Amino acid sequence: MKVVTTIKEMQAEMLVQKKQGKSIGFVPTMGFLHEGHLTLINRARQENDIVVLSIFVNPLQFGPKEDFSTYPRDFERDRALAESEDVDFLFFPSVAEMYPHPSSVKVVVQDRTDVLCGKSRPGHFDGVATVITKLFNIVMPTRAYFGIKDAQQVAVIEGLVTDFNFPVQLIAVDIVRENDGLAKSSRNVNLFPDERQQATILYKSLLAAKDAITQGERNSFTLIHLIKEMITSESDGEIDYVEIFSYPELITMEELNGRIIIALAVKFTKVRLIDNLIIDIEE
Ligand code: PAJ
Repeated sequence: MKVVTTIKEMQAEMLVQKKQGKSIGFVPTMGFLHEGHLTLINRARQENDIVVLSIFVNPLQFGPKEDFSTYPRDFERDRALAESEDVDFLFFPSVAEMYPHPSSVKVVVQDRTDVLCGKSRPGHFDGVATVITKLFNIVMPTRAYFGIKDAQQVAVIEGLVTDFNFPVQLIAVDIVRENDGLAKSSRNVNLFPDERQQATILYKSLLAAKDAITQGERNSFTLIHLIKEMITSESDGEIDYVEIFSYPELITMEELNGRIIIALAVKFTKVRLIDNLIIDIEE
């Protein structure tokens, strides 16, 4: 595995691979790798000649009151994990390398951001779209792998790729969970022990809503209420949102049918957790 820290070298390495006709599978991350990331890497390994992993905690996608400084980082651990997963290139640029001067152009996401995380994290998806634009131009991947855990991020990046004609195929990968159902996240280490315990209610409440749907419930307000009740009674977390939309359009629906997403975000002392469930409702 080769660790590359400069954009120039990364582009040169990728051009060599492309000239040889190699397909490039790319997994962008912010590091502190867990099994969710490793699942994306495995998938990329199976489907491409070359696997590129990037680790970059992107300041542009964090709000002023968010956790950029406390976001967990451990490069040596990540490097060893990437090596054992057979990654070919690990791109690990500094902030100064990625943003050497205030940008003269930024990518602004206009659609699908007035809901879910977009609503409570203004500018977040502009930061994601900007860094992904740069990373795609640096890595020039054949395929790029993203987790459905961040379902809105997948929707936004699909829009970016379509609108700006990036010659890359997006692959969305299912959520990887802990044994007790909590969605794996680099941020989970910033939960206090009692909060870690309470956080299992997030997925349990999503499953309860799914059960209710199976039993015939189709009203989104009733389901949202059920989830909110469960979370407030079983945890000290502060609910940021619980919403249900059509997926991937992210349009509100009162009566549910077709493919839907139930998504939630809950704030604990030092971390805000998200989770979701995508369900196909057949009439
Ligand atoms: P990060 O949170 O490190 O996540 C990197 C990728 O791993 C994302 O596509 C995310 O959806 C996926 N992922 C995280 N937890 C997962 C889980 N439990 N199961 C499956 N996939 C999971 O998302 C980002 O970084 C950044 O916004 C980034 C895309 C790198 C842009 O900065």
